[in-house]
Amino acid sequence: MNDPHATNDSSAGLTQAQLAHALAAATEHLRRIGVTHLPHGDVQAGARWLAQYLPSPAAAESPPPAAAAVPPPAAAAPATPNAAPPIATPPASAAPPAAENTPHKSYPLALPLAERQTQLQQMAAQVAACTRCAELVASRRQTVFGEGSAEARVVFFGEAPGAEEDQQGRPFVGRAGQLLDKMIEACTLRREDVYLLNTLKCRPPNNRNPLPDELDNCRPYFEAQLDVIQPEYIVCLGLFAAQSLLRSKLSVGRLRGRFHDYQGSKVLVTYHPSYLLRNVSAKRFAWQDLQMMMADMGVSP
Ligand code: URA
Repeated sequence: MNDPHATNDSSAGLTQAQLAHALAAATEHLRRIGVTHLPHGDVQAGARWLAQYLPSPAAAESPPPAAAAVPPPAAAAPATPNAAPPIATPPASAAPPAAENTPHKSYPLALPLAERQTQLQQMAAQVAACTRCAELVASRRQTVFGEGSAEARVVFFGEAPGAEEDQQGRPFVGRAGQLLDKMIEACTLRREDVYLLNTLKCRPPNNRNPLPDELDNCRPYFEAQLDVIQPEYIVCLGLFAAQSLLRSKLSVGRLRGRFHDYQGSKVLVTYHPSYLLRNVSAKRFAWQDLQMMMADMGVSP
């Protein structure tokens, strides 16, 4: 019987044992220099990840890195070379939501920066053409996909675009956004270094709350964005972001003050900046929450 570890991996011209060794050495090096989001998976998957960086002509024929395989298409799309990565439609008979803190599947293999940016751009185009929620499609000016660094360490996850965001097509550019900018700066971060996105990509009419169907329809988009970015931290701003990401029914008050998990990202829940504008006394709690994250990141205010 063949020793599977001695077989040649045609994608890189190395034996699996050689690839496994190289992968282990590279992983160990990355861990030592502080990289925390390392690829998961078996030797085969790891070898494919490594093969992208090897100067082998055959490497180009190897399967694309895992994050490119965003879930199956909503409807059969034409297979053009520049087609946007398909994003899953919510299942027709959705399984009951996983209870909070049940183990999630982990993120797919991390992509190089340029590939992340390309995928996000392609997804944004898909989102701009989305017609899943009739009422939102009828009332929106444009979709608000999200923006920021595709390799952000921290993602801020909001509820839904407001009037100003709907007008500009950018997240958090209204009054709440100005407060969020201050919160980001207070964390010694810059807006361009983080990533901002929402549970919904369309403004609900008159800023009403997102409806459960709308949240379900939009979920595959934010999941796909997070799969690409794979942040170390996700800050959920307000109830809808927190309950949606964590599939929880608990209040912000019950969820804040500790880290939760989403696919390996540390999730912090805090008050939405719009709420803080109306309830100034809650600002000190939001500041405590951000300080908890900064301490964990090894950053001092
Ligand atoms: N509120 C949000 O939750 N998101 C935005 O983008 C703007 C305001």
